[in-house]
Amino acid sequence: MKHVLRLASAALATLLVGSAFGQITNTPHNLNNFGVTVDRNQVCLPCHVPHNAYPYNYTDPLQRRALWNHAETTQTFTMYTTTSGHTGTGPEGPSKMCLSCHDGVTAVDNYGGTTSGSHFITGSARVGTDLSNDHPIGIAYPTGDPGYNDPSGFQGVQLVTINGTQRVECTSCHEPHNNSMGNFLRRTLNESRLCLECHNK
Ligand code: HEC
Ligand code: HEC
Ligand code: HEC
Ligand code: HEC
Repeated sequence: MKHVLRLASAALATLLVGSAFGQITNTPHNLNNFGVTVDRNQVCLPCHVPHNAYPYNYTDPLQRRALWNHAETTQTFTMYTTTSGHTGTGPEGPSKMCLSCHDGVTAVDNYGGTTSGSHFITGSARVGTDLSNDHPIGIAYPTGDPGYNDPSGFQGVQLVTINGTQRVECTSCHEPHNNSMGNFLRRTLNESRLCLECHNK
């Protein structure tokens, strides 16, 4: 009996360690899965570095805070304008970080100072530079508007504060380290729960 218990707890420990290790490793955000050879399979390195960070001349303070190690997009983006006439600002902060690969123009392997990368995102994961056909980002959250739920009740999504304004950015719906719900989403698409966290429809 004791023996069986010991075996069971060993298996459990392996499972726990395994899942903690696997969270980003087995996702498309491990660039090794995208044909890029990263030194010693360092999953974090194309995006973050612990020392001598900011190898590129960033203009965005939020990138400096994330110890960001990736080249920054230099593209000009077309933003979304809502029916009430609000146009998104940016991209800035985390959205600019995402678009520094998902613009399809900046090489995913341009990190750590490299500028000669040759791997680009194509197909449906290429968000591109025209954001006018994508859910608005860089857009202020209309707290108090009856069409929108109070952020204090959010269970998965989040708002991002940039220059003192609470906004919807890419990371409002996505968590780039966790793909357990697919598409790195913060909330399930079942019954459109992701959308209904914000929209009171
Ligand atoms: C494909 C790019 C990418 C990879 C790979 C990646 N990250 Fe991140 N990480 C981001 C982005 C983008 C942000 C900023 C998100 C935000 O501000 O919400 C971030 C933020 C963070 C933060 C600060 C905010 C938070 O979520 O706690 C930590 C800590 C972090 N990453 C750790 C890691 C570690 C450790 C690894 C490797 C195991 C890793 N990241 C791999 C893109 C990445
Ligand atoms: C984190 C909060 C949040 C989430 C999650 C969210 N939205 Fe939005 N959505 C907004 C905000 C804020 C606006 C812009 C409001 C404005 O300025 O008029 C918006 C705008 C829109 C618009 C454009 C409205 C217009 O007037 O042009 C549509 C359509 C929309 N959202 C649909 C969705 C759908 C579908 C989902 C789920 C896949 C979703 N939203 C998830 C916050 C959110
Ligand atoms: C260092 C480059 C890089 C950065 C930075 C990056 N991604 Fe990605 N992402 C990728 C690659 C490569 C893929 C795989 C594309 C493919 O398979 O065609 C991917 C795939 C995805 C997918 C599809 C996942 C799936 O299951 O198919 C989503 C969603 C995504 N990224 C969102 C984001 C968001 C949101 C951010 C910012 C918070 C971000 N990414 C930042 C490189 C990046
Ligand atoms: C309002 C929520 C919301 C915001 C904001 C948002 N996304 Fe998404 N994203 C989704 C949902 C839901 C999906 C899955 C359904 C789909 O593919 O359209 C998705 C899918 C994706 C995919 C995978 C597409 C594919 O078919 O492979 C990528 C890549 C992606 N998002 C990147 C981004 C980036 C980059 C930003 C910021 C510029 C962003 N997203 C902002 C909700 C959002």
